[in-house]
Amino acid sequence: MIQFNNVTKVYQSGDKEVKAVNRVNLSVEKGEICVLIGPSGCGKTTLLRMVNRMIEATEGLIEVNGENIQSLDSIQLRRSIGYVIQQTGLFPNMTIEQNVSVVPRLLGWDRVKIQHRYNELMDMMGLDPDEYRNRYPWELSGGQQQRIGVARALAADPPVMLMDEPFGALDPVIREHLQNEFLRIQKTVKKTILFVSHDIDEAIRLGDAIAIFNAGELMQYGTPNEILSNPRNEFVSQFVGSDRTLKRLNLLTVDDLLQRVAAVRQKKQKSYKEACGGSTVRRDSDLRNALSVLLSSPTGAAAVVDEEGNAFGNITIADFERLVEVHPAQLKSIVQ
Ligand SMILES: Nc1ncnc2c1ncn2[C@@H]1O[C@H](COP(=O)(O)OP(=O)(O)O)[C@@H](O)[C@H]1O
Ligand SMILES: [Mg+2]
Repeated sequence: MIQFNNVTKVYQSGDKEVKAVNRVNLSVEKGEICVLIGPSGCGKTTLLRMVNRMIEATEGLIEVNGENIQSLDSIQLRRSIGYVIQQTGLFPNMTIEQNVSVVPRLLGWDRVKIQHRYNELMDMMGLDPDEYRNRYPWELSGGQQQRIGVARALAADPPVMLMDEPFGALDPVIREHLQNEFLRIQKTVKKTILFVSHDIDEAIRLGDAIAIFNAGELMQYGTPNEILSNPRNEFVSQFVGSDRTLKRLNLLTVDDLLQRVAAVRQKKQKSYKEACGGSTVRRDSDLRNALSVLLSSPTGAAAVVDEEGNAFGNITIADFERLVEVHPAQLKSIVQ
């Protein structure tokens, strides 16, 4: 859906050249969230803004939905891509309704359709349409302004969204709340999203894929689990942190573990609960929680139960050792 082929951006800064993005190859699947992450100045914003041609690439080719963006009219391109930034970019002299409706108005939608869309988006964001309709951005909290920023970007229902640290300025509790809301909304709207972050926990939580950059170069591209389990080099390893095993356990569920390591045994054994001395764990539980259960289970095993409490498999401490490749003695320290 979004494809970067050998993309480079060189800025002229006085008589010096700054290579902000260096020969990047990256492909983002339709309906997925790809998080671009790396230290400040590594080229994330530059890469993002090249997609809607707010910045022109120096070399290489960018395709959106199979089309070379150079062959498209840049104004039309921009209107067909949602864009959200940290400072919201809301127009201070426009009401909330006017802000949300900017692109539909530019596209010439009729009044009734615009109003309907505004109401729909505000409901989606969990904000009362009538309560906010005539207010101005400065009358809203930071978290509410960010929601309006997201609503505005979604207004014309663009297939692609570019989001540049949209929750970066919010305090941690509100940020996590908005991240969860964002994931809930994405489940229904299924946009193709490039999302810039500098926070690895945010990247793991939101990304279907993560692209880690250093000094304009792509260091590694993969699913959160791939990157946490196999950091390709020292830089990535440092960046994801020494607690990457714990992060993986928070990310994966008991279902994931069953699929990966316990599939064979699952079919053989019948009375799971008995065999496990009564220890049970839900299939949708994260692996950190599951490990706590296993470590306090007298048999070192736990029956896996579905939503109705029916056991259909089991997991053991040995499964964990195989999955996370750590010594048994270390497992305890992971969950403490
Ligand atoms: N307009 C510009 N002129 C010159 N250098 C720039 C310009 N914009 C960004 N840069 C440089 O390009 C590099 C990448 O910047 P940026 O894409 O903003 O990184 P990030 O978003 O990862 O913090 C940095 O070294 C930055 O100083
Ligand atoms: Mg940036």
